[in-house]
Amino acid sequence: MKKTIDNIELAGKRVLLRVDFNVPLKDGRITSDVRIRRVLPTLNRIIESGGIAVVMSHLGRPKGRVVEELRLDPVAERLSELLGRGVEKLGDCIGPDVKEALGRLGPGDVVLLENVRFHPQERKNDPGFARELAGLGDVFVNDAFGAAHRAHASTVGIAGHLPAVAGYLMAREMEVLGKLLERPEKPYVAVLGGAKVSDKIGLIRNLLPRVDSIIVGGAMAYTLLAAEGAPVGKSRVEEDKLDIARETGKHAAALGGQIFLPVDHIVAQAFEEGAEPVEAGSEIPENLMGMDIGEQTAARYGEIIGAAKTILWNGPMGVFEWDSFAAGTRAVARAIADSDAYSVCCGGDSAAAVEKFGLADGISHISTGGGASLEFLEGKELPGIAVLQDR
Ligand code: 3PG
Repeated sequence: MKKTIDNIELAGKRVLLRVDFNVPLKDGRITSDVRIRRVLPTLNRIIESGGIAVVMSHLGRPKGRVVEELRLDPVAERLSELLGRGVEKLGDCIGPDVKEALGRLGPGDVVLLENVRFHPQERKNDPGFARELAGLGDVFVNDAFGAAHRAHASTVGIAGHLPAVAGYLMAREMEVLGKLLERPEKPYVAVLGGAKVSDKIGLIRNLLPRVDSIIVGGAMAYTLLAAEGAPVGKSRVEEDKLDIARETGKHAAALGGQIFLPVDHIVAQAFEEGAEPVEAGSEIPENLMGMDIGEQTAARYGEIIGAAKTILWNGPMGVFEWDSFAAGTRAVARAIADSDAYSVCCGGDSAAAVEKFGLADGISHISTGGGASLEFLEGKELPGIAVLQDR
């Protein structure tokens, strides 16, 4: 168990709070503020305890230089609205101006430093840069679960210089995802989708001994089907992963686990939003490509989901962003939301699907982690968690 913000003294302290405010932006506007909202309990706790919150985050991948569109100003504005108090946004994350600005702050104040990835030293976990960041605070609180798989200066290096503990969001993510690995109530069903099977092999292998069944959709299903020799037409298949896919199938069979693959499909002539959706059975004709799971598959998956007590969902069943190919993902999302099981949704695409279909209330926990939640569920120790103090 890691120490949390509840285990340290905050009053009068400068609390360096690392968050993951890597939010989606369109034309300079935030399109989902979920990652900001989820940090509010930690921030409120710091404010109410009389701490000074010095908040830092990355945004996008600016490659170690200043990119105007990736400044954190819109985030500071949104954070200020949500907190109902002013949030000063500084022009950098280190340097004399930052130090001077922090010197003016008092208990309960909140400032947001500029994008830490504007400095190339951040991603290199440069010791000097980590020391400079650490010099801005008295304690380090990490609430950036979404970035916990990155060994960067603001997530790992900094923890070598200050008492380092988890924020409430980090603690919750560790608890929920940890439960999926350690003591899930059975039957436990994993619903996996998304483009590439290669991204999910580690996850499948770590889940197989724990789950009762894995149900698969999305383009990754076509690689698994092709590995079994099923005709998949022009569907997206990772040719170089067919052997691994075959081995994974054998491994599952040896463990007595079941991997369910689609038995029918919605297909199209081209990967285009306007392409005409066509129903296909288990064999996809040569000139067509799979775009979504079919109705029969969705019904079958719905039954398996309905009987589960624990559900993990990662990855959409088809191209849900396009209405003609969204039915499979919608059906699975609804089945998960309607079930009484403890349900966890992780990965940016499935979280976006849940929001798009207005089903977020039916899911027990929607993880803020994409890559981080995957690596956690693969059984890897995340560097940003490893450096936090044990209780
Ligand atoms: C995410 O959005 O998954 C995290 O913020 C990590 O971002 P990164 O993949 O650019 O490190």
